Amino acid sequence: MKKTLLTLGLLATAWSVNAADPELAKAIIKEKCHLCHGMEGESSNAIYPRLAGQNHNYLVKQLKNFRDGKRKSDTMNEMTKGLLDEEIEALAKYFSAKPALSHRVRDKGFSAVGEYLYKKGNKYSGIPSCKSCHGELGQGSDDLPRLAGQHKRYVADQLHAFGERIRTNDNTIMHTIANKLTELEIEALALYVSGIKVEEPEESEAAKEPEQRQL
Ligand code: HEC
Ligand code: HEC
Repeated sequence: MKKTLLTLGLLATAWSVNAADPELAKAIIKEKCHLCHGMEGESSNAIYPRLAGQNHNYLVKQLKNFRDGKRKSDTMNEMTKGLLDEEIEALAKYFSAKPALSHRVRDKGFSAVGEYLYKKGNKYSGIPSCKSCHGELGQGSDDLPRLAGQHKRYVADQLHAFGERIRTNDNTIMHTIANKLTELEIEALALYVSGIKVEEPEESEAAKEPEQRQL
């Protein structure tokens, strides 16, 4: 009991130092975002992008672009209206810290077409590999979006939007790539990235097992 209280006390002290950001983010998400993106950024409907594990600077940039009208979206321009920079910072910090999710992919053959394109591009039509920017595992980087585990419908929608110059806030690179992709390539790429899992070696199944056996 004493030990529990001590732990709680330590947790409370650690919490109060960082309380402002997550509490601020949670309040905004509860009020304005969770219906579409979920409290954890899981976005259970495929037309709403997953935000869990999305990269911090990328999130900040997109939210500011929505707010300032540079990235056009009927929904998101309205949702970000009036958000302060520090609120955007808190939201980006909150969602980027959530563990990324991934989808189970059934059509392995079609996903393999996507994997090939993702890793090698298409030299016959001049499409570079996606991994050269978005990373071997689709994890992106601080400034580039994570694609791994994203909803395939959202990914395909964005590739169309880049290709047709509907998404124009920063589309020089993605436009030249997306406008060369065929429908089959878009669908295969979207399926493949939706299923990429990020391994977390430090919490391996083997390490968890003994505890579970006792139950
Ligand atoms: C009514 C549904 C809805 C609500 C509520 C909503 N969003 Fe969105 N969100 C969307 C849709 C749809 C998109 C895709 C943007 C597009 O292309 O139109 C999106 C896109 C985004 C993106 C871009 C993700 C990426 O990968 O580029 C971010 C970040 C985001 N929303 C954050 C938020 C935050 C933060 C809130 C609350 C302040 C919020 N959203 C509220 C529907 C919603
Ligand atoms: C030379 C670098 C580069 C390459 C190669 C590249 N991308 Fe991108 N991609 C970007 C950048 C930069 C952005 C973010 C644009 C922004 O900040 O608005 C992006 C954004 C995206 C998005 C939007 C993600 C979201 O959350 O809304 C998708 C989807 C995407 N890329 C898919 C691909 C695919 C598929 C390929 C390969 C066919 C590819 N990209 C190759 C640089 C690249």
